[in-house]
Amino acid sequence: MPDTILFVVGARPNFVKVAPILHALSTCTGLSHYLVHTGQHYDERLSHRFFRDLSIPEPDVNLDVGSADHGVQTGEIMVRLEPVVKSVRPCCTLVLGDVNSTLAGALVAAKQQVPLAHVEAGLRSFDRRMPEEVNRVVTDVLSDLLFVTEPAGVDNLIREGISRDRIHLVGDVMVDAASHHLPRAREASAPLRARLGGIPYGLLTLHRPSNVDDPRRLTRIVAQLETVCGDLPLVFPVHPRTRKRLQDFGLMERTAAIPNLHLLPPLGYLEFLGMLESARLVLTDSGGIQAEATFLRVPCLTLRDTTERPDTITFGPNRLLGADPEVIPSAVREVLSRQEPPPAPPALMDGHASDRIVQILVDRFADQTG
Ligand code: UD1
Repeated sequence: MPDTILFVVGARPNFVKVAPILHALSTCTGLSHYLVHTGQHYDERLSHRFFRDLSIPEPDVNLDVGSADHGVQTGEIMVRLEPVVKSVRPCCTLVLGDVNSTLAGALVAAKQQVPLAHVEAGLRSFDRRMPEEVNRVVTDVLSDLLFVTEPAGVDNLIREGISRDRIHLVGDVMVDAASHHLPRAREASAPLRARLGGIPYGLLTLHRPSNVDDPRRLTRIVAQLETVCGDLPLVFPVHPRTRKRLQDFGLMERTAAIPNLHLLPPLGYLEFLGMLESARLVLTDSGGIQAEATFLRVPCLTLRDTTERPDTITFGPNRLLGADPEVIPSAVREVLSRQEPPPAPPALMDGHASDRIVQILVDRFADQTG
């Protein structure tokens, strides 16, 4: 029997990251997978559709935790995951990214003394008000294998006292997914682009609590969108958290009435990737989209004070707009007036991070006796 790696996924970005690793693992002998879906994301559009788009195998178990406050959600995942880990007895537990499911998976593995691998280790925004930053720091401290996307991540981990032999600079698995799925993404997004009449457009995503949970800040962002859409039509797939906040704060009607702002439900992976590749620019507060835009050479304006992915700025087309939404229109105009194309992506964005990860897992854990 091959040894088993237990993967814990729960939220939309986890699904994108796990797909190329599971694919690479399926081509080698000596290791099998057991896939746990925590149920942190459960909507068709945030979960099932991603499994279909990315050809991810059915989870072996779904813990069905659903939405709740951070402590309840993280704790509930731990309560439901622990017996699964005890019964599967994996040679390694692998967690990805920085969501609450990542943290819960890391804590259970550490308590059960199962070796822990973290994909996307070492990223730091240095802003502990972000729930993701807390999840990253704790997960990394507990991890035995730390798979890092870019050199700054290695520096961060060494500074935090993690021993060098645990750290592996492998590149970004989100880029593996993007490069693999691009042809299908172009096809999947063609009808939506046709519906827009083939005009240039920008893409907008917004879901960080720091942007959407504060009514004054969200109101100021909406006011700036009114100006931006005069220069460039925007396509805005609205995250459920953001839709709820727009409704709670009485901003939905005003937002829906902005000319040239196309409000959509959350898009599937393929549709979104295709829309991103063809966009004139992307305005976002997501982490992963900064990396995807760098790979696709699409100008990216990030509606945050910090980024945990400095390579996207140093070598890529990303710019941090900071805390002040009033700068959005001039930043958009500046991008629209640029002549030169964005730079080529960094060398590690080569589409082979998952192969490197799986090779390291095989070397470390695979049943060598056949
Ligand atoms: C989570 C991650 C964030 C990631 C994002 C991607 C944490 C701390 N945050 O944020 O890092 O960038 O996923 O989407 O893990 N909801 C639905 N349907 C769902 C899931 C959620 O409607 O399937 C709504 C619920 O109202 C819920 C809210 O969205 O309360 C927030 O969901 P949650 O999983 O807590 O965090 P996200 O904002 O999605």
